[in-house]
Amino acid sequence: MNKLAIICVDDDQAIRDSLEIELKKTVSDDYRVEMTEEGKEALELCQELLAEQHEIALVISDCIMPGMRGDELLKQIHILSPNTITIMLTGQAQIEEVSNAIQYAKLYRYIAKPWHSDDLRLTIKEALNSYLKEKKLAQFTQELQEKNAALLKLNQEKNEFLGIVAHDLKNPLSTIQIGADWIKTDYEYLSQKEVIETVSTICTCTGQMFELIKNLLDVNLIESGKLKVSFNLVDIQPILQSLVNRYKPFAEAKHIRIQFQSLEKHYMALVDELLVLQVLDNLISNAVKYTPRGKKIEIRISKTKNLICCDIQDEGPGICEPEQPKLFRKFAHLISEPTGGEHSTGLGLFIVKKLVIAMNGSVCCDSELGKGSKFTVCFPINHTLGVTHSGLCE
Ligand SMILES: Nc1ncnc2c1ncn2[C@@H]1O[C@H](COP(=O)(O)OP(=O)(O)OP(=O)(O)O)[C@@H](O)[C@H]1O
Ligand SMILES: [Mg+2]
Repeated sequence: MNKLAIICVDDDQAIRDSLEIELKKTVSDDYRVEMTEEGKEALELCQELLAEQHEIALVISDCIMPGMRGDELLKQIHILSPNTITIMLTGQAQIEEVSNAIQYAKLYRYIAKPWHSDDLRLTIKEALNSYLKEKKLAQFTQELQEKNAALLKLNQEKNEFLGIVAHDLKNPLSTIQIGADWIKTDYEYLSQKEVIETVSTICTCTGQMFELIKNLLDVNLIESGKLKVSFNLVDIQPILQSLVNRYKPFAEAKHIRIQFQSLEKHYMALVDELLVLQVLDNLISNAVKYTPRGKKIEIRISKTKNLICCDIQDEGPGICEPEQPKLFRKFAHLISEPTGGEHSTGLGLFIVKKLVIAMNGSVCCDSELGKGSKFTVCFPINHTLGVTHSGLCE
């Protein structure tokens, strides 16, 4: 940080010398002390110092000088640097100049000439203390304002979050209520088929609500910094294989083919097994969810020197460029919609991104509208090989 500056202005050489001596005795080397003999010169010096990012803590100016008068100089300095403390040295009966300086330059003190050395030094010390206190106060105020703005933003986000959650819970809840009421009041008149259909709708709705609540709990765990990652050397291949097996029936119901390509038997990475499962589950479930009937999903696993990478590529609707930055945000319901009436909370990819980062990995989306999407997730094979995040990779 640049030194704090003190500027003294007086046309009398003897006064300047004496001020310099007093300042040397009063202030430490942390201050840069400048002597000038007239107002215009002092003002130019002020401008130069400010341009060089110096702070001007104190200006001590004579009152009556050739050219610019002391009160006018202090007024100009106050405009340039409002926090600078100003002191005026006065002769007898210079009331007008003093009152001008008080009114327009927030004059801190005036000192009558000839001054008493102790008086002058004490005034300078107090003036500098006052400058430093004001400065600290301004910093605290700014920090407080920034924190306040951050809290307001957080509160707004929380409100939006609550609004979305309430909305997403309200729909299945009202369906449950309508269904349950119907069975309760019209039980005698309903066919067995109607009862079974209504009860299975109720089951679907409770499932959706559970899914949303589970995702919300995951988000809460992540955002509160309580997510625990237990790193182990894990073979990613069987995890992918088990997920392919799990999703095959859902895909087949939509006439979607899932192809799984794995050239080697083992693909070991240093990760948390359960979290990897959750990440890949989300990506594969999305591929199945957003791909239309009759299309294909390709899943590949590969190894580089440092990473194990999995590609989940679909022939779904793709994601247009303006929507891509929103993909990994909370409640990102984009244009693409489930093709088989599946449920969607809009939290899956947000959770994926956080989990992958917690395991020092990366997740990318390469997609073009109408041409399908490819999600690539990479995990390091050991601790020193974390992924550097760049581009659309998260
Ligand atoms: N493979 C994909 N193809 C096309 N759009 C996709 C694909 N994956 C995700 N999206 C879009 O991104 C949005 C966010 O996906 P994300 O997985 O976060 O939420 P979701 O699938 O809607 O809900 P869930 O929380 O149940 O996973 C989706 O709503 C969808 O519009
Ligand atoms: Mg999803």
